Amino acid sequence: MAEQPAGRTVADLMSRPVVTASGAETIAVVGTRMTDAHVGSVVVIEGDRPAGILTERDLVRIAAAGADPTIARVAEWMTVDPDTVASTVTAQQAFENLSSHHYRHIPVVDDGHLVGIVSMRDLMKVSQILPVEKMAVEVPPGLEGVVVADTTIGEVRGDEGFYHYRQYDAVELNEQRSFEDCWFLLYEGELPDRAQQAEWLAKIAPLRVIPSDVKEFLPHIAKATGAHFRPLDAMRTAYAAIVSGWPSWLDTDRDELIRQAMVTCAVLPSMLMALYRLNEGQQPVDPDPELSYAANYLYMLTGERPSDEDAWGLERYLISTIDHGFNASTFTSRVITSTGSDLGGAVLGAMGALSGPLHGGAPSRALDMIDEVGTRENADTWIRNSIESGSKLMGFGHRVYKTDDPRSVLLRKVAAKLGGPNFELAEYIEGRAVALLHELKPGRKLYTNVEFYGGLVMERVGLPRTMFTPTFTCSRAVGWTTNIIEQASDNRLIRPKAKYIGPPPPQPVPTLD
Ligand code: ACO
Repeated sequence: MAEQPAGRTVADLMSRPVVTASGAETIAVVGTRMTDAHVGSVVVIEGDRPAGILTERDLVRIAAAGADPTIARVAEWMTVDPDTVASTVTAQQAFENLSSHHYRHIPVVDDGHLVGIVSMRDLMKVSQILPVEKMAVEVPPGLEGVVVADTTIGEVRGDEGFYHYRQYDAVELNEQRSFEDCWFLLYEGELPDRAQQAEWLAKIAPLRVIPSDVKEFLPHIAKATGAHFRPLDAMRTAYAAIVSGWPSWLDTDRDELIRQAMVTCAVLPSMLMALYRLNEGQQPVDPDPELSYAANYLYMLTGERPSDEDAWGLERYLISTIDHGFNASTFTSRVITSTGSDLGGAVLGAMGALSGPLHGGAPSRALDMIDEVGTRENADTWIRNSIESGSKLMGFGHRVYKTDDPRSVLLRKVAAKLGGPNFELAEYIEGRAVALLHELKPGRKLYTNVEFYGGLVMERVGLPRTMFTPTFTCSRAVGWTTNIIEQASDNRLIRPKAKYIGPPPPQPVPTLD
């Protein structure tokens, strides 16, 4: 049973002396100090003032990011200006004020001086709430840095600015291989030789054709969404028709699961383009089996064979976004698969996760930003105002990359090669955005992500902005389906838990008069 508060204050519960550090010390030194002192956090002080806090969670984040603890400094990873509590406050009050913030350790400060540290667990123990169950493991908000599965598909190394697909540097692959080769690599675990390439293309070509019963249904979908037409929503609806009836993967053999995965990746672009054209009052263009994935993608949009340069540019974007660790949509696909759902259900859920502006919905917004900025002269004021008002600059920042996103470096080169009216302005805005993020959000390590130049490349090869996120969806479908197959090969239900932080139960149920 929980202990009653009985007027106990923070002073009664806090620990002292506090283990402290300076921002200039290395993570290795301070980590050792925490271990030696058996504490879960250190308070970073400037004079007697707590300027930051570094916790076990930060150590997990640092390890997950692959940062070298002998070089990384405390100031780069600590939480700046942490919330504090006065020693005279009651434990109940402190718990109620701070429980929604998800902190685990709170410095205790009286008259500007650090006098102790108190843990949320201690506050919770004496507050009117049951303590956390013994087995519960608390993890950082947003699961930052938490490893939740083993994979052989690929990896993202945030501090190095490196990612790979099954051991091959993804940027090098992109420079040398086709989208179809990378797709083969993900599914088969190795790159195809010439004979395998030909066989693979022959397998894919017929799967691009939209089944006739679904094709008949497409005009209704395009019409139903009418003025509110969003190609991604329309594609999702049509895909739901394709997968209708697919059984749980628990009742499906591996060959059938791979066939469903291939159908998914092959047919999505055909349905997307057909729906887009229907909404524009044009007839769909059937896929051309002679064309590569990327060239056929643009062909089905316009009805004309694209230039080699456009197909090349699009293919670079598509390869760069095939897979990328446990991003939100991939994780979603694995969570859904873990329940034994069918492959189609997992892909549909992943599409929903990808569509949000914080994930795959960003590239068109990044271009909107370039348009809004308009000129070099406006850049600083616009960007500064945006950051200061609390908005996120679209196309910047990343959960894992704390240095240049290699995809953005690659796509910057592709965009430069393709040229186009807004490349120079975009490059200027990028430079100013990174500089101002550095100035206004120090220590957050915010750089350009894939979406900024991704948007530029897609626009330059002729894709309308409403088609950016759907295009990302088509390429990422290869990554999702690979993850679904991997999850199915070694499955355990993914079922974490939430920490209840509302008012203490049980609340008597009121009787109705
Ligand atoms: N513009 C301004 N500030 C930013 C940005 C940004 N783009 N990104 C992060 N920050 C700031 C936050 O405001 C926060 O500041 P604070 O410490 O003062 O509160 C700090 O940096 C940490 O940001 P979080 O949102 O906690 O970082 P998180 O890892 O949760 O989010 C994300 C990563 C969602 C990508 C974020 O950087 C963002 O919203 N970027 C803009 C949207 C975008 O481009 N998304 C595409 C990502 S790539 C992809 O999914 C394929």
